[in-house]
Amino acid sequence: MAAAAAPVPGPGILDIAPYVGGESKAEGVERPIRLASNESALGPSPKAVAAYKALAGEIHRYPDGSATELRAALGRHHALDPARIVCGAGSDELIALLQRAYAGPGTEVLYSRHGFLMYPIGALAVGATPVAVPERSLTADADGFLARVTERTRLVFIANPNNPTGTYLSAEEMARLHAGLPPNVVLAIDAAYAEFVNRNDYEAGIALVNRAPNVVMLRTFSKIYALAGLRLGWAYCPPAIADVLNRIRGPFNVSAPALAAGLAAIEDVAALARARAHNDEWLPWLSERLQALGLELTPSVGNFVLVRLPDEPRHNADAAFAFLQSRAILTRLMGGYGLPQCLRITIGTGAEMEAVAAALAEFMAAS
Ligand SMILES: Cc1ncc(COP(=O)(O)O)c(C=O)c1O
Repeated sequence: MAAAAAPVPGPGILDIAPYVGGESKAEGVERPIRLASNESALGPSPKAVAAYKALAGEIHRYPDGSATELRAALGRHHALDPARIVCGAGSDELIALLQRAYAGPGTEVLYSRHGFLMYPIGALAVGATPVAVPERSLTADADGFLARVTERTRLVFIANPNNPTGTYLSAEEMARLHAGLPPNVVLAIDAAYAEFVNRNDYEAGIALVNRAPNVVMLRTFSKIYALAGLRLGWAYCPPAIADVLNRIRGPFNVSAPALAAGLAAIEDVAALARARAHNDEWLPWLSERLQALGLELTPSVGNFVLVRLPDEPRHNADAAFAFLQSRAILTRLMGGYGLPQCLRITIGTGAEMEAVAAALAEFMAAS
């Protein structure tokens, strides 16, 4: 067989449309209002920042590759066995590790039609086939998932709540979905926004992991804990899956500053309560203001809202995005998620919310 004339990547890799993150800069403005990446409104716990700074003199040392202290703290905080926790450089890394471990050429990875983009990207990266499952009212549909399971299915990813729609599945629906899956399929519940949810019928996934050998819950320090720049996430797994992830992860996959800041953050329960209370105040505030402008919103339980703009060119999502950007307010266009009529707006500070609501009112009023 003739050798290829140039290096050839693995199957699927060139089918990936690279992930495009939210805008972080606006021309000529030093500090734009950043509502494009679902980062925290209030910033990290001062204790986490202090722990990060305190590590500056130690960065010539390798981190603790077992993340022992952080896993112990997570175990105490959530009443979990630390041996079943695996830490990663953001939950993105854990999503990729699950794909590497359980998917590959000839297999299928299911995700919700408007689910987080790293699921199909991660599937393609390992040569697997991503399968988008239709939703009902922009919400993951348990029956839709079950209808698409085949003998090739290895992984099911569900963000709960989902980004970018903000919708969620109740504990009961998630359990029903799980009950219908074959035992060799891993159900990965990505609960990146779990701490923001205040619904009685919601459960982040711990109860299901505790009783099923094929369910993993993913969590992150990037959202309510406001440590997105440090890259820290964790997975709560059945023992056999934790063992698999520990075999394939890098030995020092989480940096020492991330471990230190994460530990301080998890112990600062007052900062967590403040961040939650802030979202409880401003999520409904922004939602009501936008609805009062005649805009259609998907009910959100996260720290962001998905807003549908009118179809007519002067008031559509592209025009709204550009108008807000001209006011140094950065939001996220949703074309990449197949929702070109929508903008996603992160809950920021009170002043930022007032600014975006006022700017959108002006935009909608303009003829
Ligand atoms: C649903 C979901 N999962 C995972 C992530 C990635 O988080 P991390 O920063 O921990 O990699 C995000 C980030 O936006 C997300 O929305």
